[in-house]
Amino acid sequence: MSESHKKLEKNISLMAIIIVLVVLVGGAVEILPLVFQDIVRTPIKGIVPYPALQLAGRDVYVREGCYLCHSQMIRPFRSETARYGPYSVAGESVYDRPFQWGSKRTGPDLARVGGRYSDDWHRIHLTNPRDVVPESNMPGFPWFKDNLVDGELVQKKMRRLQAFGDPYTDEQVDSAPADVEGKTEMDAVIAYLQALGHARSGR
Ligand code: HEC
Repeated sequence: MSESHKKLEKNISLMAIIIVLVVLVGGAVEILPLVFQDIVRTPIKGIVPYPALQLAGRDVYVREGCYLCHSQMIRPFRSETARYGPYSVAGESVYDRPFQWGSKRTGPDLARVGGRYSDDWHRIHLTNPRDVVPESNMPGFPWFKDNLVDGELVQKKMRRLQAFGDPYTDEQVDSAPADVEGKTEMDAVIAYLQALGHARSGR
C-alpha cells in the first residue's frame, strides 16, 4: 500500500470528507441527467396524467405494496420483449410519482398488462387469485370491493399534481369527485391496470 493511501485510511476525518465528495459526484452523475435531459422528461405520445379513477387505483396499488412482487419495467432483452411486449422507456413514467418500475418479480411484470384480461377476470383474480390461477401464491385483496374511493381526496391529489406541472385541466380536477362517485377500490385498481402500457403496446 502506498504511503499516501495509508495516511488516508488512518485519518478518519479525511476519509469522511473524501467519501462525501465521491458520493456527491456519483450522485450528481446519476441524478442531473434526469433533471436536464429532455428525453427522460418528455411524455411519449399517448401518455397523459392519470384520470381520477386510475389515479385512485394507482394509489391503492402503492398502498397495498403490489410493487413488492410486480415490476413495471420491461428490459430491452429478447426474452423480456417476447414475453411482455415492447421494452419500457422513461417517457412513459413522467406522470408516475413515484414511478413503479421496481425490480422484484415474484409475479410477472405488469407494464403491459392493460387489455390482457377482462375486467371480470381481474375482479375474480384480485379477490382470490386461486379461483383463476390455481397455482398462484398472490394474496387476495377481497376488501377492495367494499371500500369506496374518496372523491374529495382524489381531487386534492390532482390539484397537487397540477401544481407540480402535470397538465390536468381545471375541468378534470373539478369533475374528479363526480368521476369516482360510487366507485370502489376494486373498480379503481382495475381501471389502473387496464390502462397500463397502452401507449407502447398499442392495445
Ligand atoms: C406476494 C406477491 C404478490 C403480491 C403482493 C401481488 N401479486 Fe400479483 N401476482 C403474483 C404472482 C405470483 C402472480 C402470478 C400468478 C397469478 O396470476 O396469480 C401474480 C399475477 C398478477 C396479475 C396477472 C399478471 C399476468 O400477466 O398474468 C396481475 C394483474 C396482478 N398480479 C396484480 C396485482 C396487484 C394489483 C397487486 C396489489 C393489489 C398484486 N398483484 C400483488 C404475486 C403477487
